[in-house]
Amino acid sequence: MKFFLDTADLNEIESLIQTGFIDGITTNPSLIAKQGSSMQEIIKNICKMVHGPVSAEVTATDFSGMMKEGKYLASIAKNIAVKVPLTNNGLMACKELTSQGIMVNVTLCFSAGQAILAAKAGATFISPFIGRLDDLGEDGVKLIQDIVTIYNNYPNFKTQVLVASVRNIEHIIRTAKIGADIATLPPKIIKELYNHSLTEKGLNAFLEDWKKTGQKILPD
Ligand code: E4P
Repeated sequence: MKFFLDTADLNEIESLIQTGFIDGITTNPSLIAKQGSSMQEIIKNICKMVHGPVSAEVTATDFSGMMKEGKYLASIAKNIAVKVPLTNNGLMACKELTSQGIMVNVTLCFSAGQAILAAKAGATFISPFIGRLDDLGEDGVKLIQDIVTIYNNYPNFKTQVLVASVRNIEHIIRTAKIGADIATLPPKIIKELYNHSLTEKGLNAFLEDWKKTGQKILPD
């Protein structure tokens, strides 16, 4: 499973990229708005730091506006994936942009039917928002199961399933078991993945015992 980082915060990206676990970045207009600087600058800088796909979302809602914004965003760097919403116009823009060789991430997916449309439109990535479904008392992971099952039935569907709106580690484990291609993780969640109380307890005990020996591993 690949991990993307779901943030537009350059400091977070810079520090987490060093882990070697980050395969790409997703942003959205709300994440950009939190940063208080220009989208173009933010996206340009992210693309310099990360070699994998960087999702940058259009904000036009009409087809021609989406095409203009999408082509502009794609001109910023080779690794841009233009993000379009799962609407009629968004899917038409997806089809056109992908036919021009541009990666497209279709976002705001909440049903398997929508995911089928995105695959038929040639999307590079489909982003089902599982946390937002859970918030409504539905089972977001079940949606991932449905989409992966459907996509596996049709080898001509090349769209990668990008699990979005991830709220906890269980979301990652359960969707990895299903075989989702990618999860996009808020920085907080990727940091939590390292933690287990037994790891901390075990390490403390090892270091205490080691101290008692008075030994050093490296010769003086
Ligand atoms: C994905 O591309 C979105 O940016 C993101 O995962 C949305 O998550 P949220 O529901 O926590 O806002």
